[in-house]
Amino acid sequence: MIIGSNLLFFQNLPSTNSHALGLLKNSRLSEGTILSANYQSAGKGYSGNSWESEDGKNLLISIILYPSFIEPEDQFLISMMISLGVCDFLKRFISECSVKWPNDIYVNNDKIAGILIESSITANKIDFTIAGIGLNINQEKFLSNAPNPISLHLVSGLYYELGDCLNNLSTDLDKRYKQLIRGSFDQIKQEYISKLYRLNEWNKFRDAEGIFTGRILTVGDFGRINIEKQNGNLNDYSFKEIEFIS
Ligand code: BTN
Repeated sequence: MIIGSNLLFFQNLPSTNSHALGLLKNSRLSEGTILSANYQSAGKGYSGNSWESEDGKNLLISIILYPSFIEPEDQFLISMMISLGVCDFLKRFISECSVKWPNDIYVNNDKIAGILIESSITANKIDFTIAGIGLNINQEKFLSNAPNPISLHLVSGLYYELGDCLNNLSTDLDKRYKQLIRGSFDQIKQEYISKLYRLNEWNKFRDAEGIFTGRILTVGDFGRINIEKQNGNLNDYSFKEIEFIS
């Protein structure tokens, strides 16, 4: 086992990702180390957003990886691998799970997990990666203005033991990381694409030119999303260049 071989548990931290970064400044933690917290006072989402999670209700983890075998330009593979691992975990309990590009984990039209990958690259090599995952398990109510949060409990009506969830999630992520180590890049990419939220469905999006109807065809190099516009034009977008409407 790589992911989950070492577990550091905290009652309360500002952010597991920030704490992992602080620890890595002074020491090289073993690969696969998981930092897990019951509560984060300053949980980070992407784009400077905060991450809401009630004390002791959900999984808040950061995983330390040293994926030096991945070229920096292929680092979206790490996002894909983590997204698939979280979906594998959810599939233990529920039948439906998709990935809203780039890496929001969805059940139907609601977000059940968020992923924040932070990597350090030196001399064109990935030095380390911190894969942060916030996975909503038992929370009943969400108070922030996040648009559409949901938890496993709200989907199934059941409550879950967090320790068991962490063990199962580690196992599922470990399998996916080993798939990446084996070099099964195409398989990871194809599975990720097949799980995309609203793949091939006509929907409204907004890009720099305004709102348009389009459909997601695939995800290409550098993790850019490929969308066909109704007029037949094909466009590749990176994160922040495109927005889902509704
Ligand atoms: C998102 O905005 O969707 C990403 C959310 C990532 C949240 C997790 S919770 C554990 C880890 N520590 C953080 O501060 N953020 C990530």
